[in-house]
Formats: sequence, C-alpha cells, structure tokens
Amino acid sequence: MTAFEAAALTRSYHLEGVTVDALRGVDLTIGDGEFAAIIGPSGSGKSTLMHLLGCLDRPTSGVLKVGGVDVSTLDDTRLAELRNRMIGFVFQSFHLLGRTSALDNVALPLVYRGVPRAERRRRAREALEAVGLAHRLDHRPSQMSGGEQQRVAIARALVGDPQVVLADEPTGNLDTRNGDEVMGLLERLNADQGVAIVLVTHEPEVAGRARRQIHVRDGLIERDVA
Ligand SMILES: Nc1ncnc2c1ncn2[C@@H]1O[C@H](COP(=O)(O)OP(=O)(O)OP(=O)(O)O)[C@@H](O)[C@H]1O
Ligand SMILES: [Mg+2]
Repeated sequence: MTAFEAAALTRSYHLEGVTVDALRGVDLTIGDGEFAAIIGPSGSGKSTLMHLLGCLDRPTSGVLKVGGVDVSTLDDTRLAELRNRMIGFVFQSFHLLGRTSALDNVALPLVYRGVPRAERRRRAREALEAVGLAHRLDHRPSQMSGGEQQRVAIARALVGDPQVVLADEPTGNLDTRNGDEVMGLLERLNADQGVAIVLVTHEPEVAGRARRQIHVRDGLIERDVA
C-alpha cells in the first residue's frame, strides 16, 4: 500500500487580507516502509506539508490520499480517526504534558481510541521500554533530559502501532549524542517494524541517514533523491 499520495497539492493561508501560498502544487508519493527526509530553507513549506500529510490540516486544493483514502471524502471526525489509527507525531519541542508522568503521556493517544486503562498502561510501559526508558515511567518531562523527553515523545508516537511516524525536526533541540540516539531509534523502528518515517531536518547529516531526500523550496518540491 501507499502511505501518502499527493497530487497538485496546495495550501494557502489567509491573514488579514494577505495570502501566503505555502504550498504551490506538490506531487509526492511515499510508500509503506519508506524512510524519507524533507529538507529546505526556513519558510519553504516543510511544516505545512507535514501537517497536511499528518491530517492535522487540509489542503486548499489538490488531492491527498492517506493510506489510500482521499482525505477530502472524510469529515473532521473521520479524518481524526484516520490520523489516530495511522500516524504518530514527533515534534521538535517534544509537546509533552508537563505535569504528567512519562507513562501517562505515552498512554494518552490510547484514551482517544477507547482502550481500557489497564491495557493502556501495559502498552505505554512496553513502548517506553522499547525506547530504553523503563526506569523513567513515573518521571515528569521536567525531570528528564531533552533526549529522554524526545524518547518519551517517540514512545507516544508508537503506542498506537502507527503505519507512519512524522517527525518535524526531531533532533532540532538535542545535542549531537542525543540526536544520534533519537535517529538510531527511528532507524530501528523503520528497519525492524517497517514503520515509514518522514522527517523534517535542517541538518545534512541527519538527512543523509534517510534513504530518500525530498528538497522543498518556495512551496514546491525542487528535487527528490533516492
Ligand atoms: N498558520 C499560518 N498562517 C499564516 N501563514 C503561515 C502559517 N503557517 C505557516 N505560514 C507561512 O507559510 C510559509 C511556510 O511555512 P512553514 O511553517 O511550512 O515553513 P517551514 O519550511 O516549516 O519553515 P521552518 O524551517 O522555519 O520551520 C511561511 O511563509 C509561513 O510564514
Ligand atoms: Mg517548520
């Protein structure tokens, strides 16, 4: 199956009479199990594209299929269901709940799926073990290092068994060693479990570890190198 299929995708933002054409006609196919990096200058549309792929936002025009489903045929509830079932997110600034334990942060996506509490906790524990944080279940984000927090975020992205993990600058706030560890985790996830990874990065070294580099400029794909 194909994780993402985009044709002539555009996204324009309208702000106080001003229009910004953030994406200006993107054609892109990302297959199951791929490992792709999206790179490009600041403001070129990378996050906008990630938000569309992740069903956090809708295109202005064009066709986007996620897991073979044309998102324009789904109402907001169905779109959220598709997102919940198929996609895990990792953000540069972790986006964890600050006053909540690692275990409960990771279990949260399962609440929206109606998974019973005991099973939520079991699966969250497994996901945290998989990222090497079995000893930090009860720590809050403020009691963890940046690298540990990002691993919690990866566990949260994984707990629902997604087909795809979308990561926007996942190593952007980490030092080299922690960034390296996070990349290693994503690589293992891709190799061992066949989870497709699409990540945005500014770092050529990080991009070089992906099997495909998609260069974005001015809202268009400029170059796509496998
Ligand atoms: N919510 C919004 N409302 C209005 N304009 C927006 C909005 N989000 C993004 N833009 C504009 O759309 C363009 C693309 O933004 P986007 O966030 O996708 O860039 P990016 O490639 O992710 O940049 P960066 O590398 O700095 O994160 C920019 O010109 C930005 O100012
Ligand atoms: Mg961005």
